[in-house]
Formats: sequence, structure tokens, C-alpha cells
Amino acid sequence: MRIDVVTLFPDWFDWFRAQRHVTNALAAGHELRTLDMREHTPLSGGQVDDTPFGGGAGMVLRVDVMDAALRGFYGGIDPLDLRNQRRVIALTPSGRLLDDRLVDELAAEPDITLLCGRYEGFDERIIEHFATDSLSIGEYVIAGGELAAMVVCDALMRKLPGALGHSDSALEESFSRALGGRPEYPHYTRPAAYRGWKVPDVLLSGHHEQIRDWRLERSRERGEERGAQSAGERGAEEGEERAEG
Ligand code: ADE
Repeated sequence: MRIDVVTLFPDWFDWFRAQRHVTNALAAGHELRTLDMREHTPLSGGQVDDTPFGGGAGMVLRVDVMDAALRGFYGGIDPLDLRNQRRVIALTPSGRLLDDRLVDELAAEPDITLLCGRYEGFDERIIEHFATDSLSIGEYVIAGGELAAMVVCDALMRKLPGALGHSDSALEESFSRALGGRPEYPHYTRPAAYRGWKVPDVLLSGHHEQIRDWRLERSRERGEERGAQSAGERGAEEGEERAEG
């Protein structure tokens, strides 16, 4: 798989590229390139953003700058056509929420491009005309798309063949299909007892079937707890709305 990240801060990814599962994925033939938006800006002084029309705080990434950057990186091809050739994903808090299903979907793509916003984000025309998708890593705002891009790259690179030491590690983990989308069961290691806290007997029993049943049961319980929590949150919100209305 080839992942390109369009960013104003390509150096940030040097640390990420040095992490074990990423070096493994790269050694297995996958690629992670960072493309510096400023390299191709048609504006003087490396300018890439501007003040928002209609007023308001912060700066907005310009559509002409993104157009030039994408053309510069991809051999002059119009970004309108580029998005017919690969998934071009704008990272923005208002995008589709990242989950394990989306990670699987992206990990199956041969090529993707991640666009990192900064400041107040993108001129909307970038999202509308150059991107195939917009993606959020959660309902909160971080200072820019770079950390979000790393989260996406991390989540999907560990799914790529060759990235993890043990090939089963990414199969049965939280929110995976193998666990029916539920959170993973708890893990324990040595010592078997510590300060009076004992590891559940079944895990020391050597009975593989019982261990499996115990793990699936714990995963189900955790799923129910999370379900109850979010139902509680929804209920509280609805209550607030009723109180306000
Ligand atoms: N940029 C700023 N906040 C973000 C978020 N939550 N997800 C993706 N990109 C972002």
C-alpha cells in the first residue's frame, strides 16, 4: 500500500516513520510519503492560507494552494481526476468518524492520500472537489490534521501484512470482526498474583476452550457496558434538550 500525506509539517512524520510496526510495514514494501504543501505554493513567501470570507478567527487553507500542491506531487494531473484514481481523504473534525470498519476499508486500498488541515481547516472547495472522503478521529478539535493522519496511518499500517510481529495480533483485537465489533477481553501476564490481585484461575488452567469462552464473555460484557454508557449519555442529552425546550 502507498500512503501519501500532504502536510505543512513533513518533519513531524520522521518520528512516526521510525516506530517498529511502521519500519516493518515499510520493509515489507509499503510506502509512506510526506508531501510538503509549501513546496508548490504559487503564493509568495510560502503562503498557504488566508483569512475566512465573512470574518471570524483563524486562517483557512487555500484551494488554489492545494490544487497546485496536488498537481505538483502527482505529475500535473488535475486533482478532479486524481480523486478518480485514489482515495483522497481530508482530515477534519466534521468528517466520518474513524472506526475499525473504516480502517479495514482503507487498509484494502492500494493508494490513499491524506490531506492535513491546519488553523481553521480547509477552504470547503478542497473537501468538495479534491477529496473523496473526509475523516475525523473523534469529536474534538486538535491543532491540525498531522496527528490525525498519524492515527489513521498507525491504525491501518498495523493491519498490513508484515507490520506486526505476530500475524494474529491484529485479527482478534478491540472492535475487530473476530470479536463481533466489541471491545477486546482483558489480558494478564506474570506475576500471577501481585499485592493480592490474582489473575483469573481459568487463564492459568490450560483449558483452551474454557479460556476462549471466558474471553468472549468478558468481551461481551465490556460491549454491554459501553452500550449502556452511550445509551446513558444519549438519555442525558435528550433530557437536557427536553429541559431546554
Ligand atoms: N483536525 C482537527 N481536529 C481533527 C479531528 N478531530 N479529526 C481529524 N482531523 C482533525
